[in-house]
Amino acid sequence: NWTTGNVIEEQVEAIRAQVGDKRAICGLSGGVDSAVAAALVQKAIGSQLTCVYVDHGLMRKGETEQVEKDFVAATGVQLKVVDAEERFLKALAGVTDPEEKRKIIGREFIRVFEQAQAEIIADEGPAVEFLVQGTLYPDVVESGGGTGAANIKSHHNVGGLPEDLEFKLIEPLRKLFKDEVRMVGQELGLPEEIVQRQPFPGPGLGIRIVGEVTKERLDLLREADAIAREELTAAGLDRDIWQCPVVLLADVRSVGVQGDGRTYGHPIVLRPVSSEDAMTADWSRLPYDVLARISTRITNEVRDVNRVVLDVTSKPPGTIEWE
Ligand code: XMP
Repeated sequence: NWTTGNVIEEQVEAIRAQVGDKRAICGLSGGVDSAVAAALVQKAIGSQLTCVYVDHGLMRKGETEQVEKDFVAATGVQLKVVDAEERFLKALAGVTDPEEKRKIIGREFIRVFEQAQAEIIADEGPAVEFLVQGTLYPDVVESGGGTGAANIKSHHNVGGLPEDLEFKLIEPLRKLFKDEVRMVGQELGLPEEIVQRQPFPGPGLGIRIVGEVTKERLDLLREADAIAREELTAAGLDRDIWQCPVVLLADVRSVGVQGDGRTYGHPIVLRPVSSEDAMTADWSRLPYDVLARISTRITNEVRDVNRVVLDVTSKPPGTIEWE
């Protein structure tokens, strides 16, 4: 019979047998799946695992710190954090086309990850033979049940990993659904904030700024997003909504009045959705008082934002993310 305890025991044993005295690496995205996969493998092989977290500067407020502190504290995992903000911002300079942004972010991510891999391999003794992936059962089904890096969806890991990857895969979550993964994560002692995380796209805030991505705009969007998340959490709505992208329309300006002066600022879009699987979605009917609080706080606290608008489009026709 299925218990999280059984799953963990079974996987720990299997991973130990598979890895032996070799080493493994795992890319952490900050999301639930990679976090739980890493924690499970860590439990099995301890310091034979090194995790790599690429900070592309497109993360939300507090996210990198959450991985650095909370995740390490809960698991004791060996973590290599690569600060790649400058590199990503440079690569994104002047780019406004959404698909071009995605491609650039995916490409840079792979380069940084490969570089980190090479450094780990150079630094430490025995060969790194294994790559840990947080592949879930629905991912396996979608990709035809096969194994191997070529099957990793491009959506999954910001553009996917290279096809000529010379690693054997460890995929301890292959038989599990999302809710089961969350239970396993909880049992492994991961903090609630990681286990109950809502989906967040690999390209991060880079695809939530309509227009060019710059440091100033990212900082502004990070503030607005933090306020929206704070208020949604305070209102106890986290489990009711699937996710709530907060989008900055950086290329749009409108006239406002704040204090006793005219302003000419940018709109922020709230995109709360309910969904079962992100394939289709409906816009969430959030309570007006919660929307009002978010709006008031964002326009008061975030410089250059003088308007908050609500996206009331279902998917289809709108996608969940704006880009
Ligand atoms: P869309 O915008 O296609 O999003 O309706 C569906 C779901 O996928 C997430 N999303 C991504 N997740 N890498 C990811 O890991 C990506 O490139 C990516 N793009 C969209 C989105 O947040 C939503 O949950």
